[in-house]
Amino acid sequence: MRLSIKFIIICILFLSARLIAQNKMQAEKKVFVNGKKWMDTEGNYINAHGAGILFHKGTYYMFGEIKKGKTWLVPNQSWEDYRVPAGGISCYSSKDLAAWKYEGIALPSVTGDPQNDIDTSKVIERPKVVYNNATKKFVMWMHIDANDYSYSQSGVAVSDHPAGPYKYMGSVKPNGQMARDMTLFKDDNNKAYLVYSSENNNTMHVCLLSDDYLSPAKTYTRILTGRNREAPAMFKHSGKYYLITSGCTGWSPNPATYAVADHPLGPWKEYGNPCIGTGAETTFYSQSTFVLPVKGKPDQYIFIADKWNKLNLEDSRYIWLPLYFEKDKVKIKWVDNYLKNKLYRL
Ligand code: GAL
Repeated sequence: MRLSIKFIIICILFLSARLIAQNKMQAEKKVFVNGKKWMDTEGNYINAHGAGILFHKGTYYMFGEIKKGKTWLVPNQSWEDYRVPAGGISCYSSKDLAAWKYEGIALPSVTGDPQNDIDTSKVIERPKVVYNNATKKFVMWMHIDANDYSYSQSGVAVSDHPAGPYKYMGSVKPNGQMARDMTLFKDDNNKAYLVYSSENNNTMHVCLLSDDYLSPAKTYTRILTGRNREAPAMFKHSGKYYLITSGCTGWSPNPATYAVADHPLGPWKEYGNPCIGTGAETTFYSQSTFVLPVKGKPDQYIFIADKWNKLNLEDSRYIWLPLYFEKDKVKIKWVDNYLKNKLYRL
């Protein structure tokens, strides 16, 4: 008898703990507190670092680096070259930027093939996807590198469906130039550009892509020369082009700057740090990866950044902040939760 009371109490305790955990998970799903762990609709942690977002037929698709496994330090480097196995590229979809459904691995990495660009022993970073209206293909570009970042190439993959699977086509040094941190930008006239840190991260390049977006065209410009910028995120506002970048301090945060141009190929003029308030000097302890224009709201943008945890890269977090214009100047301000901010009620 005593045993069964004990058993009932244990069961009640167990069920209440489960209920509390479930409620907490439900609440967290909708919360998206900047810098905390974010969950997908199945209650799993979102694993999409250095992310980019594609808006296609009413759905947002988010692509990011899968970081999974033990962080290790590459020996004999002059900088803190912390690495985690390259886990490929994940995809999540959302209609409202609030609930993110896991769509699976858009581009898997391969194992045991160290010569392969997308082997787990390589660097696969900052995936960005655009849709080619003429070929009806979804084209993904990403940074492909060796563990010591000496390979410095841009990789390309293609799919018939937004969420993938993507077929890896290979990597290039655009026009023979080094290419590390990168982004993609598709203009309203359907011209697309690859933007990457080049010349050993000293100078950024903007390179026009071929009409099918699968290879770099001969046209490219050198911008922000000698400025040592990386983590580019480009967007267009009122006919002008904007480029947010970070400094080059590895996984550690530093102040962002932004640049403005009348054409993606430049000339670009660099301004100061768009971040305001406490934490601005470290971009709120984060690094840019993408600026998302909010559909149907021409003055609303979301600044998407990574809060890297260099000692445990798998546990790196995300930061989404309001980006807005004040007298033609770009501003980014801290909010705890982008969904709760009045400006950003989606
Ligand atoms: C960062 C870069 C990241 C990653 C890291 C490696 O500066 O933006 O994408 O490459 O360096 O240390």
